Amino acid sequence: MNKTISDLPIGVFDSGVGGLTVLAALRNLLPEEDFLYLGDTARVPYGTKSAESVSRYAVQAAGALVKRGIKMLVVACNTASAVSIEPLKDYYRQLDVIGVVRPGARAACKATESGNIAVIATESTVNGGAYEKAIKSIRPDAHVISAPCQLFVALAEEGWGSGEIAEAVARKYLNPLFASFGNEKPDSLVLGCTHFPVLKTAIAAAAGPGVQLVDSAGTTALEVKQMLADRDMFHSKGHKGEYAFMATDCAERFAKVGSAFLGEEVLREQVEIVDL
Ligand code: DGL
Repeated sequence: MNKTISDLPIGVFDSGVGGLTVLAALRNLLPEEDFLYLGDTARVPYGTKSAESVSRYAVQAAGALVKRGIKMLVVACNTASAVSIEPLKDYYRQLDVIGVVRPGARAACKATESGNIAVIATESTVNGGAYEKAIKSIRPDAHVISAPCQLFVALAEEGWGSGEIAEAVARKYLNPLFASFGNEKPDSLVLGCTHFPVLKTAIAAAAGPGVQLVDSAGTTALEVKQMLADRDMFHSKGHKGEYAFMATDCAERFAKVGSAFLGEEVLREQVEIVDL
């Protein structure tokens, strides 16, 4: 049987292994789809780099996926979603590109009652103000304050996502953020970075009761499903979805750290090293 566009994999791109938390959600919701994941491990972190560099990297990474043949691109990296969605859409006009910021903003607006929303993310995501803009485009009266929590990325990759150290760091970041809301405490906290769901328990403990943690992985997967339905592009029925991994450096580390993010073992042999 000839392969159609619908039978092509969905491309998923991240600065490294963090986007595997998004891949896990996609795979759960869309078990019949194939996925081709690319982590730019040679240039991670994106979260401390300029918008220009991140956009250039994102266009190159998307190019590597497009060359292999994908039917849609999911930008799993919050930083790349925050600063590179428009450059990517401009560059790959024929391709459907879905980022994680808008789905995350939608989830935050659904979760909040008061409209007071705290956002934690990488430095570059916070500096670009993408979450504020996306949230306010849905709920103009929302009161949004964002704070960079760069150290969470290293903690998650080190396997220190829970416990004393993670909780102490979470308090150090969240206490001033929550205090900046004054008496109007936030009731929803957006985890605006691929790595932060790994620290969910520590972040929830530091945030205290009455604060709903929101991450964009689940809502992004729902948006991808909806787009596949709109385009009539689901993979042919009865297919058991497969996934393949590409990285720009260190297959060993990708497999080791990535297994924890995906929630399933990734073998070194499964990771193809590519040059962008
Ligand atoms: N993937 C990045 C994000 O979600 C976190 C890691 C990095 O800084 O590259 O923003």
